[in-house]
Amino acid sequence: MELIREEKRERAVFATKLGAIATTVGSAVGLGNIWRFPYEAGVHGGGAFLICYLGFVFLIGIPLLIAEFVMGRGTRSNVFGAYRKLSPGTRWDLFGVLGIITSLIILSFYTVVAGWTAEFCLASITGELNFATEEARHEGFMVLTNGGNSMIWTNVFIAFNFCILIGGVTKGIERASNILMPLFFLLLVVFCINSFFLPGFWEGMNYLFWPDFSKITPSVILGALGQAFFSMSLGLGCMMTYASYFNSGSRLGKTAVTTSILDTMVAVLAGVIIFPAVFSFGLSPSAGPTLVFEVLPHIFYQLPGGGIWSTLFFLLLFLASLTSTVSLSEISISYFCEEKGMTRGKAVMVSTLITIFGAILCALSFGPLAGFTIFGLDFFNLFDYVSSNVLMPLGGLGCSVFVGWFVKRQFIENELTDHGKYKFRLLKIMVFFLQWICPAAIILIFLNSIGAI
Ligand code: TRP
Repeated sequence: MELIREEKRERAVFATKLGAIATTVGSAVGLGNIWRFPYEAGVHGGGAFLICYLGFVFLIGIPLLIAEFVMGRGTRSNVFGAYRKLSPGTRWDLFGVLGIITSLIILSFYTVVAGWTAEFCLASITGELNFATEEARHEGFMVLTNGGNSMIWTNVFIAFNFCILIGGVTKGIERASNILMPLFFLLLVVFCINSFFLPGFWEGMNYLFWPDFSKITPSVILGALGQAFFSMSLGLGCMMTYASYFNSGSRLGKTAVTTSILDTMVAVLAGVIIFPAVFSFGLSPSAGPTLVFEVLPHIFYQLPGGGIWSTLFFLLLFLASLTSTVSLSEISISYFCEEKGMTRGKAVMVSTLITIFGAILCALSFGPLAGFTIFGLDFFNLFDYVSSNVLMPLGGLGCSVFVGWFVKRQFIENELTDHGKYKFRLLKIMVFFLQWICPAAIILIFLNSIGAI
């Protein structure tokens, strides 16, 4: 995140237009694509889920992403401040509060999974991940992700996140990720090619791409909506916060479309890697949150030089997760700094402490707290479910209604056309989507999933 100080203004701005795309893609691409997408698709029947997911990315995700960009860059504020500046004296800013709280809930379980990537990376280097038999691999997996280990590694990850947020290595990490993210992409393509040679390739492809429409149930639809929000970093004001750092020449529409396409491609690639392997190795696609971490070592270690592939993959996944958690943390940090008058150091500290507390609850869900459930879900699964399937869509609903109905059309147009410098032909359609399609879809899906319609 290369930031330069704008003259006479306190807020930082990305130095280049590329900075805008690189950072939003960095936020969007992460565990949501590699870990969450395959496990959600696996739980929800493959092709049927993919179709719904793709529909939501284009019909709801892109308009909402643009709406967040407009609010963020137009006000140059944190999420709470953005609502407040655009509608002073009202309580729309409660959606800002919702976003801030939700971001901390997500960080709690996200950092646990990100901790596993660090642990798996190290275990690949030491050879610990290369178990001889399938059972041994499963056993080994259970040891690696047990409560105690998860607890240590989640904190290791949070420490990395802390260092970046505090500012010291920001430039280094961003520059590195400009090289590493394309490398990550390349590595995914290599593993996709490898999938082709697995015995279960066609079965896996069939599962992922052939929609069995009879499998589309309310929970599949809600799951797909939640996944679209999660993967595109929507509904909490995360993209809003990043857009507040865009420089004024960045084209918002183009940035939104590029980000969405890249993000979706990475998720689909992950599916093409995982599902053929699931069927080749006789595993179940509906294993849930641990699916990817069980399947990936199988893939790596049937390749020559398995340890190297494995190390490289988990290292890159670790870095991709880090660019996502930085963006999640930035939501509350920018709020603490701008609305509560904290110094950046103090804000980072507060955000980190809350994250550690939540992360410990989630890590212990794989240990002593496994039996502690609310609505039948332990902390880890509860936080994951509630944030994606309830809180994010709710935040998205607020944002679309707000921008669609309450923000002046001229303001939106100015942001999207850079005060008339560019054309943005889809303005009317976009506003129509924000006014009607997005809110209606989200409300109907909610009602449908609780069985009201
Ligand atoms: N999109 C990221 C991923 O796929 C996670 C993420 C980052 C996120 N920032 C967010 C999710 C804000 C919701 C809201 O891994």
